[in-house]
Amino acid sequence: MTRRKYVVGNWKMNGLTSALNEAQAIFAAAKEHPSVDVALCPPFTLIGPMIAAAPGAAVGGQDCHSAASGAYTGSVAASMLTDIGARLVIVGHSERREGFDESDADVKAKAEAALAAGLSVILCVGEPREVRESGGAIDYVLAQIAGSLPDEFDSTKLAIAYEPIWAIGTGLVPTVEDVAAMHGAIRAKLSDQAGSAAGQVMRILYGGSVNAENAEELLGAGDVDGALVGGASLTAAKFVPIVAAGAKLG
Ligand code: PGA
Repeated sequence: MTRRKYVVGNWKMNGLTSALNEAQAIFAAAKEHPSVDVALCPPFTLIGPMIAAAPGAAVGGQDCHSAASGAYTGSVAASMLTDIGARLVIVGHSERREGFDESDADVKAKAEAALAAGLSVILCVGEPREVRESGGAIDYVLAQIAGSLPDEFDSTKLAIAYEPIWAIGTGLVPTVEDVAAMHGAIRAKLSDQAGSAAGQVMRILYGGSVNAENAEELLGAGDVDGALVGGASLTAAKFVPIVAAGAKLG
């Protein structure tokens, strides 16, 4: 089974309209690497302008609400993302799980709402440092998947991002062996929960301090189908080499 490499930038709460030229440069360079699927998830305010600046590009949100509409001040519904041309959304990022108290059930509801609205989903999981140190990382992550994976879904539309919390924005990364062991365990869990065909089709991205220097090694680890990139996705100079690493391996 060959799964296309998928390299996604999560801009987090970074980026004014002046950053749109970086997005244009990223999507222009991505065209040189047609074997890799490239997407950017900027703040909500930049989604529409980014799609206008780079027509046809895969642009998405970093979160959505699970309800279709209503009295949820400050929130954005999945259908609102589809409406402005977004193609994907990240759900369950650790900065949402931790900072906004999102449970596995919340993440599952968001993923289901996003899929129902026609978006592709990147569902994030990952353990805190103390869990990694205690040897419980795989059990922890598989429990997150058990609790947050939708009951039914199109396996081409849902990707998992494994992001160890202690590796996000820290410059620390797990060993390639640990990444491969985790991704292999995730794939076995997906096959168990969603069926073996789905388990083979679904892409599992690694995230946490991916950069131009370590991308080839991390993307080359067993069962790694791409990367979810934070800091190094903000400029073309840092992000395009990660896309190129994916193309080399893809
Ligand atoms: P980082 O963030 O690449 O800056 O570590 C990754 C993420 O949080 O998705």
